[in-house]
Amino acid sequence: MRRKLVVGNWKMHGSIAENKALLDGIVAGVREYLNADYVVCAPYPYLNQTQSLLQGTNVAWGAQNLCSTTDGALTGAVSPAMLVDYGCTHVIIGHSERRNLFHETDDTAAARFNAAINAGLIPIFCMGESAEERESDWTDYIVGRQLDSIIRRFGPHVLKNAVLAYEPLWAVGSDTPATPEQAEEVHTFIRKRVARCDPEIAAGVRILYGGSVTPANAPKLFAMPDIDGGLIGRASLKIDDFVAICRAAN
Ligand code: PGA
Repeated sequence: MRRKLVVGNWKMHGSIAENKALLDGIVAGVREYLNADYVVCAPYPYLNQTQSLLQGTNVAWGAQNLCSTTDGALTGAVSPAMLVDYGCTHVIIGHSERRNLFHETDDTAAARFNAAINAGLIPIFCMGESAEERESDWTDYIVGRQLDSIIRRFGPHVLKNAVLAYEPLWAVGSDTPATPEQAEEVHTFIRKRVARCDPEIAAGVRILYGGSVTPANAPKLFAMPDIDGGLIGRASLKIDDFVAICRAAN
């Protein structure tokens, strides 16, 4: 039985004062929800603050990206070991905003995924199609290609220490979430594709849905057999909304 997982992706939001109120609220809100797992992915400058407010609670924390190189003359980059230093357990890899706005490719996302695994971090590997790709019936092709970019390189066994996330681009940051049935169809496709390589790994890997998850739609999404939780953007910035989504997972 896979435990549900809810991950908050703050993106480029927050301030020391706002984060304190938000994290205190989340900690108090989910304290008794012991049947699922919760993670907050904060911007780099706030990892220290996040660590000090979340350590000893049932909420873990992580980052939203990392550099695939261990160290060196790389101005502006943050290494996997630095995230480990701040107690991160998770890191988001290949988010569509990174792919589209920062020119990340299947190759660079795969390198970051591998760097996370090598550092003992759990990568949350994002995949998803655009609206045009869905209209052209390319969803399976796009998501399959993104999934293969890690499985072909590193083998299915790496998914033992990873989380997958289906994030259709048309649902991220919009007000058009995938329906539970639409999301489930792609989650099943992903799980079957992993199962072709290793049925046991496929049965165990958690596949999150992301894209306009709210307290209203989370219960139905999380009730689908192949949806193991959510990657939450906007609703992760509001205490009540995030706690309600965690409650749905619990
Ligand atoms: P959203 O973002 O929940 O605001 O749609 C989801 C994500 O980008 O992970």
